[in-house]
Amino acid sequence: MAGGGFVAQGEVKDYNGKVTLFVIITCMIAATGGLIFGYDIGVSGGVTSMNVFLEKFFPSVYEDQKNAGTSKNQWCSFDSQLLTAFTSSLYIAGLISTFFASTVTRVLGRKASMLCGGAAFLIGSALNGAAVNVAMLIIGRVLLGVGIGFANQAVPLYLSEMAPPKLRGALNIGFQLATTIGILIANLVNYGTNKIKGGYGWRISLALAAVPAGIMTIGALFLPDTPNSLIERGKLETARRILQKARGTDDVGEELQDMVEASQAAGQVRHPWKNILQKHYRPQLVMAFFIPGFQQLTGINIIMFYAPVLFKTIGFGDNASLMSAVITGLVNVGATLVSIATVDRFGRRFLFIEGGAQMLLSQVAIAVILGVKFGADGTGAMSKPYADLVLVLICTYVAAFAWSWGPLGWLVPSEIFPLEIRSAGQSIVVSVNFLWTFLVAQFFLLALCHLKFGLFLLFAAFVIAMTLFIVLLLPETKNVPIEEMNVVWKKHWCWKNYVPDDHMAVA
Ligand code: BGC
Repeated sequence: MAGGGFVAQGEVKDYNGKVTLFVIITCMIAATGGLIFGYDIGVSGGVTSMNVFLEKFFPSVYEDQKNAGTSKNQWCSFDSQLLTAFTSSLYIAGLISTFFASTVTRVLGRKASMLCGGAAFLIGSALNGAAVNVAMLIIGRVLLGVGIGFANQAVPLYLSEMAPPKLRGALNIGFQLATTIGILIANLVNYGTNKIKGGYGWRISLALAAVPAGIMTIGALFLPDTPNSLIERGKLETARRILQKARGTDDVGEELQDMVEASQAAGQVRHPWKNILQKHYRPQLVMAFFIPGFQQLTGINIIMFYAPVLFKTIGFGDNASLMSAVITGLVNVGATLVSIATVDRFGRRFLFIEGGAQMLLSQVAIAVILGVKFGADGTGAMSKPYADLVLVLICTYVAAFAWSWGPLGWLVPSEIFPLEIRSAGQSIVVSVNFLWTFLVAQFFLLALCHLKFGLFLLFAAFVIAMTLFIVLLLPETKNVPIEEMNVVWKKHWCWKNYVPDDHMAVA
C-alpha cells in the first residue's frame, strides 16, 4: 500500500468464515485511508499553480511567473523555498509522527491511532481552507502530515488484521489504487475550483480534504479494535467475540489460537530494532532501505506534486495545466489496474524491469525536448505540438511507474519481512519513503533552477541504478509464502551468504 501495509503474504491458511459486512466496512476504511493520502499528494500542486493563491500567499513567485515570458529564465520561475515548504512540510511531519503513531498503535490500539490521525487531519484541513497567511497554511499542512503519519501506520495494520488472510495481498494493492484515485479526485477538484469566480476556489480544494478524513474518523469511532490488538493488550475474550463477528461464525478457535501464538512470539522479540540488524536479516534490511528510497528517486512526485506547475512552465495556460494533471491522474489509476491484473502472472521482477526501461526512455526524451526548446538559459518557448508531446511522454512515464514501482514499492517489502522483524521493517519502509518524498518535494524546484533539463537526466540515472538493483539483487517473490522466503534468499547468488543453513525453516 502507499504509506505502509503490514500485509503478510503467503500465510494463506483457510480458516473458517466468510466475507462479512464487517470486512466490507473494513475495505471502505482502507479506501478512505488511501483517498486521504492521495488527495493530499494531488491537491497541493494544483493549488500552487492557481494565480489567486500565488498572488495571495507567494506574491514574489507570482510576479516572477507572470513575467516569465520568452525573455525570462523559465527554469527558475517557481523556485521558492517557502512554496516548496508548503508541499513538503506535510511529509516531514508525517515522517516524525509515524514513530509516535507506532507506539500509540501498539499500546492504545489501532482505533486510537485512527482517531488521532482523523482529528489532526480535520483540524489541518479546516486551517488550510480558512488560511489568511502562510503560517496558517503551513501549520495546516503539518497537521495533515500528522494525520497521514497516524493513518498510514494504523489503517493498513487494521486492515491486514481484520481482513481474512486470503484477502490481504489484494488489499495491499487496493490501498495503492485508492491513493491514485485520491490523486485523481484532487486533480478534478482543482480543475473545477479554478473556474470559480471570486478567487476562493483554492479554499474549497484544500478544505475538501476533510471529507475522507471525516469518514475515516467516524468509521474509527464505530469500529471495534482488531482481535490482534486486543490480544496484545490482554483482552482475549473480547478478541474472540470480535473475531466471531468479523468472520460470521463461532468457529474461530484455530485462527484465534494462531493469533495468540503469533502475539506471544512477537512479544518474545525484545529488541526488534536490534534484531533486524542481525546478519541473516541483511537482505530484508537492504530492501527496506533501498526499495522505498528508489521509489521516490524515480521522480514520480515531481509529476504528482508539480505537474500543473511544470505544464505552466512549458507554456500551458492555467486551465490546460490543470486539465493535463487530470490526464496524468487518469493514466495513474488505469496503469495501477494493469498492475493488479498482471502482478501475479508476470511477476514482480518483470514489471520492475519493464517499468524501469519505459521510465528511462520517457525521461531522456523529455530532457532532450526541454533542452532543445528552452536551452540552458531557459529562454524560448515551446510550440503546442511539442508541449503536447511532452504531455504524452509524461503519461508513458506515469503509466510505467504506476504498474511497477508505485504498487510494488509497497508490496514487495511487505512480503519479505518475517513476523519477528515485520513491525520494525515496515516502520523503516514508511519513514524512508516519507524522507525521500520530503527531500524530492523540497529540493525539486531549486534543483530544476540549477540543473535545468539535466534534472530529468539525473532522475534517468537513478532509474538505471534502481533497475540494476532489481536485476542483480531482488529475487522473484511471486507466489512465495513468507515462510519459504529463506529458501529463495538461500538460492540467490548474493544473499545466500547471509542466510545460514539452520535458518532455512524459520519463518
Ligand atoms: C507513492 C507516492 C506517489 C504515488 C503516486 C505511491 O506509491 O508512495 O509517493 O505519489 O504512489 O501514485
